[in-house]
Amino acid sequence: MADKLKVGTLISGGGTNLQAIIDACEAGSIDAQILFTGSDVPGVKGLERAQKAGIDTFVVDYSDIISSCRKEGVDDRLPADFDLREIQAKQQLVDAGKDPEKAAFFLKTRAIAEAALLDRILAYDMDLLVLAGFMRVLTPYFIDRINTVPGNHRIMNIHPALLPAFPGTDGYGDTFKYGCKVGGCTVHFIDYGEDTGPIIGQKAFEIEETDTLDDVKKKGLKKEWELYPACIQKYAETQAG
Ligand code: GRF
Repeated sequence: MADKLKVGTLISGGGTNLQAIIDACEAGSIDAQILFTGSDVPGVKGLERAQKAGIDTFVVDYSDIISSCRKEGVDDRLPADFDLREIQAKQQLVDAGKDPEKAAFFLKTRAIAEAALLDRILAYDMDLLVLAGFMRVLTPYFIDRINTVPGNHRIMNIHPALLPAFPGTDGYGDTFKYGCKVGGCTVHFIDYGEDTGPIIGQKAFEIEETDTLDDVKKKGLKKEWELYPACIQKYAETQAG
C-alpha cells in the first residue's frame, strides 16, 4: 500500500506486545507506523519501550482520576457531551439492575477518564487504535467517538484466551485452572461488551501435563507476539482495498 496504516496504541504494563508491533513496523514486515503510546498507569515499562523507539507517549492516570472522583464527586467533572441514559442503554459491561448507583458511578468515572484519553488521541490522524495489554474496559462513550463510521471497527484488542472461552482479566490463569489441554490468544475488535467483539485472528498452543501456569503464560505470549502484528497487517490490507 502507498500509505502506511497509522496506528495508536494503549498499554497498561510491560508492553511486550507493543514491542512486537514496534519491531514489525521497524522491520517493514507490516505496513504500519505507530503514532503514539498512551498508558493508564504512569511509569510502566511499555512507555519506556515506546520512548526508546521515538514514539510520542502520554499517561491518563485512571487510578488517580477514580480516587479523586470518590473524594470530590463526579457530576461536575463529566464531559459536556456525556449522556448517562444513552450510555446506560448501549453498554454491556455492568449489570445496572443490581446496583444502579454503583453502575452509574462506574460509567461516569470511566467517561471522565475516557474524555481525557480522547483529548490526547484525537489530536492524531489515526486509522486504528490498538489495545496492547490495556487493562481497562472502554465504554460506549469512548467507542462511539473512535468508531465514527457505522460498521467500521477501529479499535483492536488482544485477549489471552481462545474467545469466547475465558473472557475477563485472567485468560491464561482461567485456561490453566480449568485443566484445558489447549490454550491460545485472540485478537478481536472492541464492541460494547467485555471481550465480545468480532474475532480477527486466533492462535493456539498445547498445554502439556507438566506445564505450570508460568509455562502457559510464556507459550501464550509467544503466540501473541506473532498474532498481533499479523492481524494489524490484515487490517492494513483490508483498508488498502
Ligand atoms: C497480554 O497477555 C495480553 O493478552 C493481555 O495483557 C498482557 C499484556 O502483556 N491483555 P504485555 O504488556 O503486552 O507484555
